[in-house]
Amino acid sequence: MTDDRITQNAAAVAQRELSTLVERTPGSKALFARAVKTMPGGVASSFQLGDPYPIYLERGIGPEVWDVDGHRYYDFHNGFGTMAVGHANPIVAEAIEAAARNGVHFAVTVERTVALAEELCRRFKVDQVRFTNSGTESNMTAIRVARAATGRDVIAKIEGSYHGHVDQLMYSVLPGADVMGGRDTPAATPKSKGVPAEMAEWIRIVPFNDASAVERLFEAEGSKIAALIMEPVMMNIGIVVPQPGYLEAVRELCTKYGVVLIFDEVKCGGTIAPGGAAERFGVQPDLSSWAKSIGGGTAIGAFGGRAEIMDQINQGAAHQGTYNGNPLSVAAAYATLTRVLTDDAYDHLGRLGARLAAGLGKAIDEYGIPANVVDLGCKGCVTYRSEPLTCYRDFLETNTQLYEASYPWMVNRGVFMTPGDEEQWTLSIQHTDEVIDRYVDAFGEFCAALTT
Ligand SMILES: Cc1ncc(COP(=O)(O)O)c(C=O)c1O
Repeated sequence: MTDDRITQNAAAVAQRELSTLVERTPGSKALFARAVKTMPGGVASSFQLGDPYPIYLERGIGPEVWDVDGHRYYDFHNGFGTMAVGHANPIVAEAIEAAARNGVHFAVTVERTVALAEELCRRFKVDQVRFTNSGTESNMTAIRVARAATGRDVIAKIEGSYHGHVDQLMYSVLPGADVMGGRDTPAATPKSKGVPAEMAEWIRIVPFNDASAVERLFEAEGSKIAALIMEPVMMNIGIVVPQPGYLEAVRELCTKYGVVLIFDEVKCGGTIAPGGAAERFGVQPDLSSWAKSIGGGTAIGAFGGRAEIMDQINQGAAHQGTYNGNPLSVAAAYATLTRVLTDDAYDHLGRLGARLAAGLGKAIDEYGIPANVVDLGCKGCVTYRSEPLTCYRDFLETNTQLYEASYPWMVNRGVFMTPGDEEQWTLSIQHTDEVIDRYVDAFGEFCAALTT
């Protein structure tokens, strides 16, 4: 069947499935009507928005979640990647309970915070770390430290990437084709109203998987550039893996021009290998930032790297925060990293990811769907473009109508997905073959529906 015909079928599937979704979720609809009165969009964060309203959840245990209408789902959303431990993980729950009974917060460093810093340094092979409460804060502060270390102000980032909602990084985040500039001259366009266009003076944009673009930029302006911040694997346009040699070339260029290389490992740090992307791809940055899965679901972030760069914090680069390293989140993170996300856990996640990707790939081939699957163990996605993505501009060629049909289709069949085609699945260590096979079966039926 032609791609055009598949797209036409997708529009009909989307319409049908969306009306089924609305029929079966009156509780979410009612809660939305209540929530919009006190929160813009009826949600706590704009990433939680849904169309026509979000599916509101009530609880989760293991690989399952229940919505406010009582429907049970297998969870592949997993809190945008925070829940690699699985819901209500008994080890994490016990650690949180014990910490809560021992005094939730003192704003004084406790021994467990020191132990967690030691574990992060061991796992991610860095000299020193500091704690934050989110990925945004981690990146924001890593940039400040890099500027302090170099005495330079300009930051380079990858076209399309998201590094949190801090003003200075909200440029060229999923830009529309009309504002993204030319292929060789990507524009630093603010993503949000309220972000001053003038701050773009301190931002330069380069495409992913293009070391020669980095070289050209550094040749022209290297002496002004404090840092290149990048996700070593792009994880906010589905998933884009680095091509062989790319990260190594970027590493070399940063060293040559004295630019601090910052890996934003907020999504990949705790998920795709025990030591994150740095371990999986064998390239060590100067600074890294982590959040999401390292905390077992609690609000925690960290950044860290080479001692001489982190020492800037002793020499006048400000880093504060009342809740940094709080005992509650630290207890959850310490239990997560030392007792749950062990080497065996990554073997399990890798095996499940391969099973899922193989099942989905088989359906894609069998029905001739213009899509491809990326598998990084705990993380993976279906992208609706025949060829894998290499950079942000490829993402603009994906077939959004197929994604829009897939979301309600899967949710109506008990597979809970992230809203938005820029996201990906996260598996948890409590997922099983049975859970994976449910996804594969529902997806196979979806592919069949697109081609009949
Ligand atoms: C790569 C990346 N960096 C940073 C962030 C921001 O993290 P947080 O939402 O914890 O502030 C995100 C959030 O999705 C992310 O995906």
